[in-house]
Amino acid sequence: MQNVAQPYRSVLYIPGSKTRALEKAQSLPVDAIIFDLEDAVAPDEKVAARQLLAKTLNTTDYGPRKRIVRVNGGDTEWGADDLATFIDVAPDAILLPKVEDPATIAALSGLLKGATTIWAMMETPRGILNASAIAAAPKMEGFVMGTNDLAKDLGSRGRGAMLTSLQLCLLAARAEGLVCVDGVYNAFKDEDGLRAECDEGRDMGFDGKTLIHPAQVAIANEVFGPSEDELDLARRQIEAYEQAKADGQGVAVVDGKIVENLHVETATRLLAKADAIKLVEGA
Ligand code: COA
Ligand code: MG
Repeated sequence: MQNVAQPYRSVLYIPGSKTRALEKAQSLPVDAIIFDLEDAVAPDEKVAARQLLAKTLNTTDYGPRKRIVRVNGGDTEWGADDLATFIDVAPDAILLPKVEDPATIAALSGLLKGATTIWAMMETPRGILNASAIAAAPKMEGFVMGTNDLAKDLGSRGRGAMLTSLQLCLLAARAEGLVCVDGVYNAFKDEDGLRAECDEGRDMGFDGKTLIHPAQVAIANEVFGPSEDELDLARRQIEAYEQAKADGQGVAVVDGKIVENLHVETATRLLAKADAIKLVEGA
């Protein structure tokens, strides 16, 4: 279901209870916002946050930013009312926490209104092991890696321990054409650490990174957006391949490396992504 033209370089969590942050997000250069009712909202604020967020989304223009609402789980006292409320509000997507099986997605998919899609938090051992079936469930559009919850359940430390889970979810997401966004970097004042983790996530194949603070946005946009060098190479690859084809060849050479049809597909996708980013940034 992925709309390849839509960038998801920067996906910012905003606690649904924080009026100031909800306002501020209207002018932040993020590709998507996760309006959170789950972990970022304290139990005694849950009901008020639900009402505040519903009213905000009904009355506020977030421009080109994708609006994703993270509800509380179906096994909590707030989950059902969250869903009932936001099915009506019909944001771009509803993000379910701690998804463990496709049945959870299927149950919601029949209730959605308008063009609302479903995203899943991938953050429990059982969920990760079922990633492939979850990705194939109806109305699924994206995975968000919940690395903090996963580390808690695994009893693991460090990014290295996450790699198998991250890659399983990427494989499952790509097999179904879904978006896949990397987990958060908790130390939000550590720019070098964030950049290193973004670099790693981009090289693994993630579309972007979930973020917790506005100070993280510029780095994610930069790392997950194509660089001028990459765009230049993509244009030259396409040109060289067209020339090769005109000469009756199936393979071109650019900068000492072969360029085949598959490289041209990647290059074309990169240029389309750059165009989509321009659209978002110009809006
Ligand atoms: N989205 C939008 N705006 C945010 C924001 C966010 N996630 N986090 C902070 N801001 C705003 C603040 O409102 C403040 O705005 P102002 O200066 O115009 O008043 C500005 O950015 C600076 O905030 P700062 O004082 O540096 O941060 P803080 O101490 O208020 O908050 C956190 C720090 C980590 C508690 C806060 O960033 C946060 O709640 N992040 C989201 C956490 C979350 O959603 N977790 C769940 C998923 S892991
Ligand atoms: Mg979580």
